[in-house]
Amino acid sequence: MLHPVPHEDTHEPPIVELRGVTTGYEGRHVLTDVTMSIAPGDFVGLLGPSGSGKSTLLRCILGTVDLYSGEVVVEGRSVTQRRPRAGYVPQLETIDWNFPVTVQEVVMMGCTMDYPLFPWHRRRGKERAARIMDRLGISNLARRHIRELSGGEQQRTFLARALVSNPRLLLLDEPTTGVDIKTRDDVMHLLDELNHEGITVVMSTHEINSVAAHLPRAVCLNGRLTADGPPGEVFTTEILSRTYGAEMPVTDYEGITIVAERPHFFGRENTRRRQRHGHNVAEKRHPVGRDNRAQPHSHRHGHGE
Ligand SMILES: Nc1ncnc2c1ncn2[C@@H]1O[C@H](COP(=O)(O)OP(=O)(O)OP(=O)(O)O)[C@@H](O)[C@H]1O
Ligand SMILES: [Mg+2]
Repeated sequence: MLHPVPHEDTHEPPIVELRGVTTGYEGRHVLTDVTMSIAPGDFVGLLGPSGSGKSTLLRCILGTVDLYSGEVVVEGRSVTQRRPRAGYVPQLETIDWNFPVTVQEVVMMGCTMDYPLFPWHRRRGKERAARIMDRLGISNLARRHIRELSGGEQQRTFLARALVSNPRLLLLDEPTTGVDIKTRDDVMHLLDELNHEGITVVMSTHEINSVAAHLPRAVCLNGRLTADGPPGEVFTTEILSRTYGAEMPVTDYEGITIVAERPHFFGRENTRRRQRHGHNVAEKRHPVGRDNRAQPHSHRHGHGE
């Protein structure tokens, strides 16, 4: 369990505010009437089924999708007036891995330099990139093409790009998808460290149990906001069913909420289960006798029978 930053009531204004936001693409609404605010120092997990609008919500905070109604304010300014200075780690599957670029070049792309033509600004950017690559353990990969990296190394490269401009707000789109359990744990601990250094973190994920174990706040989406609060309160069978449209049993293990999958029993599993319960009727329920078994095809390609 990570240790959430204790929240003091400092009356600091929210770092992100969405007020009655309806957004989407080419006139099609993807998220409708979303209102939520994120305080400085929050660590938020965005959950919801595929297509529920998690990536769209992150892009909305970045000001890169159409806003049909409502307002998005980041650090006191509407994103339609000025693009916010947020670190962003996109969903890896949206990246063109054939683009000819090295790890170092990707990280340098994150340098927001006000005067990029001045050599000392470039030098400072390079130094920052080197420092952050060192911290994330990818300095030895600096000259590697991004296509030649493992999933975890790719994640860390894009995380370095997001961090190199020293953002107060970090938005990550599924930063733990496609990596092994140890790498996932490393990424979560790194994000926790950054959060303790004062960075506000918002990440989308499909890993409900990881959110339940690590994060203080979960926001559930399904075209609309379906829940927002501590995982212990949000992860109920009813809310998860409203969010995912599936019944998911919820249990508690040593104070941590665990969401399980309801097992399906197909074919042989079903037979085994029924036998365990004293039934021996599989044949009766699914008669697979000689007569209704598929006949093998006879291929006679000129072998002359
Ligand atoms: N660039 C785009 N142009 C048009 N429609 C888009 C675009 N990006 C996403 N959509 C659509 O918007 C809806 C929400 O997509 P979004 O990517 O936000 O979902 P998601 O919750 O992130 O899903 P996943 O878990 O699969 O990443 C989907 O119906 C998707 O097809
Ligand atoms: Mg997505």
